[in-house]
Amino acid sequence: MQIGNVTIENGLFLAPMAGATDRSFRRICRERGAEFTVSEMVSAKALCYEQKSTVFATRSKSAPLACVLARENPMAVQLFGHEPELMAEAARMIEACDYMGCKSEVPPVAIDINMGCPVNKVVANGEGSALMKDIPLAGKIIEAVVGAVKLPVTVKMRAGWDADHINAVELARVAEAAGASALFVHCRTRQQMYAPGVNPEVVRQVKESVRIPVVGNGDIYTPEDALRMMQTTGCDGVMIGRGALGNPWIFAQTAALLRGEGYELPTINERFDTAMEQIHEMVQHKGMRVGMAEAKKHAAWYVRDVRYAALTRDRIMQAETPEDIRAVYDELMAMQKQAEA
Ligand SMILES: Cc1cc2nc3c(=O)[nH]c(=O)nc-3n(C[C@H](O)[C@H](O)[C@H](O)COP(=O)(O)O)c2cc1C
Repeated sequence: MQIGNVTIENGLFLAPMAGATDRSFRRICRERGAEFTVSEMVSAKALCYEQKSTVFATRSKSAPLACVLARENPMAVQLFGHEPELMAEAARMIEACDYMGCKSEVPPVAIDINMGCPVNKVVANGEGSALMKDIPLAGKIIEAVVGAVKLPVTVKMRAGWDADHINAVELARVAEAAGASALFVHCRTRQQMYAPGVNPEVVRQVKESVRIPVVGNGDIYTPEDALRMMQTTGCDGVMIGRGALGNPWIFAQTAALLRGEGYELPTINERFDTAMEQIHEMVQHKGMRVGMAEAKKHAAWYVRDVRYAALTRDRIMQAETPEDIRAVYDELMAMQKQAEA
């Protein structure tokens, strides 16, 4: 499939996840088969307002989220907001790499618009999935962003607001007419938040309703899930979120399955080494305190289904340095060896 002039051969996308898909994890996934990544969501309003003051801009929390390194492309920077003009202004800044508080080396290859976030704080402002309740405004936002930049614009949406208002097809048509280049469809309603139970039929209906590429998202935890999403809906690609946390190998495994080949599971050694590589990089980027606070979640995800891992969860959560995590992993290794002996 194509987004603008970027070809995404296998259609394998890493989903944006605030607090999880930072630069380090995106790199880890890219090196293991994810072909396209999306930044954590960035508030258009915060990005624009902070730039009006050198002090705020240099301490901005939004600007680093929008930062793109040359080796990261193809990636999209995702914006959320409800004001078409501010969304357009933020998109222009990102395209031009023209803002303080971040050293973007290059622009992303696309701007993505968040119309799926279910969080109360966001929805209360009429943003994220609340836009699915106001399709005319959603259309104006997409039009404004498309008009502001040369980059392709993508839209990430849900199935609808609730079970009585499944309107992804309506939003998809409006998005296409407004100039969107691709759609990411998380096939749950806002009311469902992240509860189990997805509705891939909505992805199929959206795919049938528009000509632009449609990427299916929701509850893909195995390569077989990914293949099923593609086969049952006809979608052009899949976007994987929680299924990639602690398991970035899912992308290469899915690519192998798509080629009709088998795939291998990572060894425990490989898991621990990958986790440590990511944790060290996070600490390097964000400093020990913030880096470790975020890295601990990843450290636990990497051992989710390893034998005896439950016994070490508390120690992982109390770790203060990468070495503390390595010590827990070494102990887990020793426990595996002892159990096998
Ligand atoms: C912790 C977390 C943070 C998320 N942050 C974002 C975000 O910033 N932007 C967005 O569009 N979706 C966000 N999502 C939604 C995911 O991109 C994805 O649509 C959702 O998790 C369903 O896919 P999955 O079942 O593969 O996880 C987030 C999800 C989680 C679990």
